[in-house]
Amino acid sequence: MANTTNEALLSWVDEWAQVLRPAAIHWCDGTEEEYDTLCSDLVESGTLISLNEELRPGSFLARSDPADVARVEDRTFVCPENRSDAGNNNNWREPAEMRAHMMDLYGGSMEGRTMYVVPFSMGPLGSPIAHIGVQLTDSAYVAASMRIMTRMGQGALDVLADGDWVPCVHSLGAPLAEGEPDVPWPCNAENKYIVHFPETREIWSFGSGYGGNALLGKKCFALRIASTMARDEGWLAEHMLIVKVTSPDGQVDYVAGAFPSACGKTNMAMMVPTLPGWKIETVGDDIAWMKFGDDGRLYAINPEAGFFGVAPGTGEDTNPNALLSLNKDSVFTNVAMTDDGDVWWEGLSDEPPAHLIDWHGNNWTPDSETPASHPNARFTAAAGQCPSIAPEWEDPAGVPISAIMFGGRRATTVPLVAEAFDWEHGVFLGSVMSSEKTAAAMGAIGQVRRDPFAMLPFCGYDFGAYFEHWLAMADHDGADLPKMFYVNWFRKDENGKFMWPGFGDNTRVLKWILERVAGGGDSIETPIGHVPTRDGIDVSGLDLDDKTLAQILAVDTDEWATEVELIREHYAGIGDSLPQRLVGQLDALAERLSG
Ligand code: OXD
Ligand code: MN
Repeated sequence: MANTTNEALLSWVDEWAQVLRPAAIHWCDGTEEEYDTLCSDLVESGTLISLNEELRPGSFLARSDPADVARVEDRTFVCPENRSDAGNNNNWREPAEMRAHMMDLYGGSMEGRTMYVVPFSMGPLGSPIAHIGVQLTDSAYVAASMRIMTRMGQGALDVLADGDWVPCVHSLGAPLAEGEPDVPWPCNAENKYIVHFPETREIWSFGSGYGGNALLGKKCFALRIASTMARDEGWLAEHMLIVKVTSPDGQVDYVAGAFPSACGKTNMAMMVPTLPGWKIETVGDDIAWMKFGDDGRLYAINPEAGFFGVAPGTGEDTNPNALLSLNKDSVFTNVAMTDDGDVWWEGLSDEPPAHLIDWHGNNWTPDSETPASHPNARFTAAAGQCPSIAPEWEDPAGVPISAIMFGGRRATTVPLVAEAFDWEHGVFLGSVMSSEKTAAAMGAIGQVRRDPFAMLPFCGYDFGAYFEHWLAMADHDGADLPKMFYVNWFRKDENGKFMWPGFGDNTRVLKWILERVAGGGDSIETPIGHVPTRDGIDVSGLDLDDKTLAQILAVDTDEWATEVELIREHYAGIGDSLPQRLVGQLDALAERLSG
């Protein structure tokens, strides 16, 4: 039963129910009883498998349709009235045409299913930085996951009161005829559409039940729609982790970092520092919303309430805090199952178990030729379960950001860390970010792609205008902006081996970054920014010879001359809206390299 007097919301739900024609409507209240019922219904329908209650209490495994395993960037559209507002970075269709096409698909698409009305807050309930959305969905798996990933239920409706919300419509596109048996993972593999109408702040999703395609609070709202809201309102909605760093003498700083999907944001957000006396705590692992405080600083919240992390590669050595977050009350999707009813994925242990059921539901042994879990297999767990969660992760006021990192996976060229000369140069560095492609989206793995601000799949408007918005943040009255840094943990030697240990040793880089913020930190000026001297980075206790350290920090003029040409191509692809100031930055870099 609806527990709201918001007339606009009641009519919106009613109108959609007439289009979608569900068999029943359920308004989610967000209670534990409701979550338990959703999960037991999902076990009954075969979508969820209960894991061993002793080993992994309150936890479940889902196996998706093999045609529905990742975000579908080629099926993702941003549809403002003018094509140029979507930019070359988004797929666009004329909005009226897209609406008409999708209305055809939506007609009766929930037949035989329950429509869940899922009110949710992105950000702590009532925070001035937070915003409310309401998602309609015919997937109980999505409704249950939304309870982990957002503040979902009556609390969000109460905050909404008679206000406005971001309307999110999601249908699996798999209506059930009378008496037709359901499948464990209903979807419509041939007809996926993840569509955004930025002017009206609407999200329409069809055909997929997986992650960012279906949990609409995450990529669709908190990034694509929110980036548009942020542009209009003078704030930032970014694909960034947020960590709290406490130095041995008790100095607290908060650092945000933009890294493309599956480049280790979750690992970094939860890292266990190797430098004695340093403490790292988690505020967020994927998204940051940042607004100006009265003191001119940027205050960030993590708009999410849970982690939807990539499971493969998450192990005791890479992210022990993630594993501890998953001890109970977690949902796993497309990982393998052990004979005792627990989960396993590549990287969880060095030695795989002798027998598993793989993500397809087939027998698997170490001799099998395919991986046991899908490379984009995910875990979903409440952020509050993370042992390294910072107490202020729910502070409605947000946390003041001292430094912003931009990074990616680059085997060559990009040094461990470089500090931008100033804000404009930092925006330039963000705009030319690049990374080797990973499994988080469909497509060829390993190729280098430009991923400005790690927002290529997530910016809800034209990149040129987005860069301009970043530049304009410096014009805010009394702005006291974070310092900006370009980082790369993934540089390889001539034998293809990673040279920097990464993970907990990235504290060493954070230490230098925060020294720079405080006005110290040994550095040399290079054409791409201030880079630490060899003594600038604390490598105490690390088995790293001088030559390797020099290679990790090197700024090679020839490599960068090639990079400049690649950046010119990238900039040409942005089109006419590219801010002239950034072209000026690129020319200045070319000049410094040749000088
Ligand atoms: C994610 C992604 O799921 O970036 O966070 O793909
Ligand atoms: Mn992400």
